[in-house]
Amino acid sequence: MKILVTGGTGFIGSHTCVELLESGYDVVIIDNLSNSKKEVVDYIKQITNKKISFYEQDVCNKDSLRNIFKEHSIDAIIHFAGYKAVGESVENPLMYYRNNIDSTLSLLEVANEFNVKKIVFSSSATVYGNPKTLPIREDFPLSTTNPYGSTKLIIEGILRDLYKSDNDWSIALLRYFNPIGAHKSGLIGENPNGIPNNLMPYIIKVATKELDCLGIFGNDYNTHDGTGVRDYIHVVDLAKGHVKAIEKILKGTGCDAYNLGTGNGYSVLDLVNTFVKVNNVDVKYKFKDRRAGDIDACYADPSYAYKELNWKAEKGIEEMCKDAYNFIKKQ
Ligand code: UD1
Repeated sequence: MKILVTGGTGFIGSHTCVELLESGYDVVIIDNLSNSKKEVVDYIKQITNKKISFYEQDVCNKDSLRNIFKEHSIDAIIHFAGYKAVGESVENPLMYYRNNIDSTLSLLEVANEFNVKKIVFSSSATVYGNPKTLPIREDFPLSTTNPYGSTKLIIEGILRDLYKSDNDWSIALLRYFNPIGAHKSGLIGENPNGIPNNLMPYIIKVATKELDCLGIFGNDYNTHDGTGVRDYIHVVDLAKGHVKAIEKILKGTGCDAYNLGTGNGYSVLDLVNTFVKVNNVDVKYKFKDRRAGDIDACYADPSYAYKELNWKAEKGIEEMCKDAYNFIKKQ
């Protein structure tokens, strides 16, 4: 079975390629390397000792896509490619709508031409907006607070409409909570350029003294210690969820959404303190004002994914912190 992975050299994409290859799937990656490096392809090969096909191309380019579909007999697609920075999406919404939606439409149109009607889409818990109760179930109301989130919700809608129009499609919408950690080899992981937006990359840059001090956005949230609570999930667990979703969509047809989270909520301080303890490092922090758009707490009810995909997260917060730091130390 051959899987086309768009954005396969990114953080979640690269870990998913490893898990696919180790489960016996063939992998074809298309990535324009706008937020990743070509070396990742070699690291994936090194970890798995398997061959992969890699195309440095933009998913928006339909002719390039057609050539890939001509060259390979694709059985299913996992679509990761897209811009993902919340703040940047607020500053430059048109760029986000153009890139994320256009690439998805191109991909779906070409897939349809080649009669490939099985796709896993990389969505996000951001589609739940500010949930009224916790834990979050898949049937909760959907809304967004920024253009990045809106692109995820719009694409979910496009895929639902596509299934309604043609019941041969088989679609899994995977709503990720907060992926952190890295592969045990230390070869692939997350290392954004510049000042990170997300918590774990920021903690790491303070631990390695690239940055002075972590700003914790708010200590007056309605949580056990006042700092924001999130459902951090090990990226390898998340990657395994994609393999399960592929197994599911290969079996039948339909369009369904699944939470990929652990079901556990940890605060910013919980994460910082665990990171400091397991890695034996200092992480200086100070409290700052709340960040616009942040919510008190967000964690999944992952039971639907367990029931339908036979998947659940297995790695704990200590392992996430250790593996994330191990990757950075090896860079
Ligand atoms: C955000 C996005 C989510 C996206 C994810 C990964 C929203 C509302 N959230 O999640 O869609 O999938 O990034 O790209 O669209 N924090 C600090 N200091 C920092 C950074 C973060 O205190 O320097 C706190 C935040 O206030 C929050 C927690 O850490 O409580 C996690 O933040 P972050 O890692 O940015 O993820 P989310 O905002 O949950």
